[in-house]
Amino acid sequence: MLSKRLQSLTKYIKRDDKLIDIGCDHALLDIYLVKSDIINNMIVSDVHENALQAGIDNIKLNKLTNKIDTRLGNGLNVLSDEDDIDTILISGMGSSTIIEILNHPYLKNINKLIIQSNNDHELLRKKISSLGYIIKEEEFLIDKNKQYINIVFVKGNKKYTNDELRYGPILIKDKEYMKSLLNSKKSIINYIPKNKILLRHKMKKEINVINKYIQMT
Ligand SMILES: C[S@@+](CC[C@H](N)C(=O)[O-])C[C@H]1O[C@@H](n2cnc3c(N)ncnc32)[C@H](O)[C@@H]1O
Repeated sequence: MLSKRLQSLTKYIKRDDKLIDIGCDHALLDIYLVKSDIINNMIVSDVHENALQAGIDNIKLNKLTNKIDTRLGNGLNVLSDEDDIDTILISGMGSSTIIEILNHPYLKNINKLIIQSNNDHELLRKKISSLGYIIKEEEFLIDKNKQYINIVFVKGNKKYTNDELRYGPILIKDKEYMKSLLNSKKSIINYIPKNKILLRHKMKKEINVINKYIQMT
């Protein structure tokens, strides 16, 4: 069965998306997407031979080699204009790697980016919005005691405030998410030594900002 984390990404994929999953590893999500008829066919890729081989083996086991095209290589380098891809899915990587991958001429063809980054969502929002995308959807979820954030970007231009980039323009209005952020900041502050006055002050300021947004929702 697909994990809650991977399952959460499936709703963002529409039947007519021309999709690549970059960093597919075992290709479990991709096999699910095709088997469930969410999408008819797609490309999957991975930069590591062993990871891609795990995907190829699973795709063969599921008799989907005619529907899932596998490519070995770094990021968008595996694509050429003939591939006609307009949607990218990336999950399970850090934001710096994701940004490096998107810094590629093929990005001009991409209308939608579905991203589940492991870290630094502020950097991710800042960089991807500066590439000419807006944030269409955001979701916070917990799977096996780990927190995940899904962000869907589509082509567009919008100037976000610093707080929107930090907490997410959609998540900032999500009381449950902001409450969980508040709790994690409150637990962190307890570990900051009393003599680290500046650091404690910064954290208290952030707690106040988060509290302000919780009151507003
Ligand atoms: C932690 S796995 C995540 C697998 C799957 N996407 C998921 O969410 O469960 C990350 C995968 O990304 C691949 N990867 C890392 N950097 C990459 C790059 N620049 N291009 C393609 N694949 C990459 C790794 O080899 C690894 O298989």
